[in-house]
Amino acid sequence: MNITILGGTGFVGRSIINCLSKTKNNITIITRNREANKKILVYPKVTLVEANIHDLEELTQCTKKTDVLINLVGILNEKGHSGRGFRKAHSDLARIILSACKANNIKRLLHMSALNADSKGPSHYLRTKGEAESYLMTYGKRFVNITIFKPSVIFGKNDSFVLRFSNLLNYVPFVFPLACYNAKFAPIFIDELSEFIVDSISNTKSFNRKFNLCGPKIYSLKNILDLIIKTKNIRTKVIPLSKSLSKIQAATMEFIPGKPFSLDNYNSCKIDSYCDSDYDFYSDLETIIPTYINSN
Ligand SMILES: NC(=O)c1ccc[n+]([C@@H]2O[C@H](COP(=O)([O-])OP(=O)(O)OC[C@H]3O[C@@H](n4cnc5c(N)ncnc54)[C@H](OP(=O)(O)O)[C@@H]3O)[C@@H](O)[C@H]2O)c1
Repeated sequence: MNITILGGTGFVGRSIINCLSKTKNNITIITRNREANKKILVYPKVTLVEANIHDLEELTQCTKKTDVLINLVGILNEKGHSGRGFRKAHSDLARIILSACKANNIKRLLHMSALNADSKGPSHYLRTKGEAESYLMTYGKRFVNITIFKPSVIFGKNDSFVLRFSNLLNYVPFVFPLACYNAKFAPIFIDELSEFIVDSISNTKSFNRKFNLCGPKIYSLKNILDLIIKTKNIRTKVIPLSKSLSKIQAATMEFIPGKPFSLDNYNSCKIDSYCDSDYDFYSDLETIIPTYINSN
């Protein structure tokens, strides 16, 4: 099969490509910047194409021979606060993807969403992810077999969740003021999630279904920080922040390049991210974190 991946150069994409490279499929990754992502060509049977996927004509042209389309595009932050960036990356893109599927008679679409994604959700991130899901399920099911994945936070080598805290701890070694300390997560190990996603490509039972996906254990953010601190063998003290101080921290951190935390992230944390998972994952943070974060 010819499998095309949008957002394939990211954390989840690289793991999925690793799984797919053990199969006989041809993989095409569409990126905004080919030069910056050339390293991905070490995988056999991978082609890297630079294109603007927000342009229907360009996307249709790049997906002419596609049998399976996988959409992993997602952003956690946007420029400004209007929600425009989130809409473009999530809900508008879903419409363009579906049009490309129709134009090219693509029969299989895998779409990465997020747990709690809902058009009435508390943040732009969750609302636009929810709008994308509704659109795909309402208008796509008639001509393409869709599977939507809704994971809690994902962890593993090169993640942006555990490693972000681990890196921040290098700069704040004594006391760490923690926003949203009581927000709950059920983290999923990336290797297990990727296998599940790749297996579902030809699993007809996953057609036109959404999967809520959670790891085996529920942790508060404070539990996760404590675990990272223990693994790094440091003595940093975590100071849980109240709701109002968490919001102030979010607003302040929006001015730091790369927005490590934002008001939209703060709003997403208003809903706990755990569920009765539609598939069983087994690896927990305690087992895996020591394999990829540096201890001191
Ligand atoms: N990581 C998690 O814990 C987690 C949890 C729940 C759901 N998810 C969802 O899983 C998906 C993959 O997450 P990830 O952690 O792999 O993200 P990631 O590392 O940030 O990768 C996302 C990829 O999407 C592409 N992209 C980003 N913004 C784009 C834009 N405006 N237009 C076109 N392409 C854009 C980028 O590819 P190029 O730069 O090559 O164009 C990037 O490599 C996302 O949809 C995310 O919302 C992730």
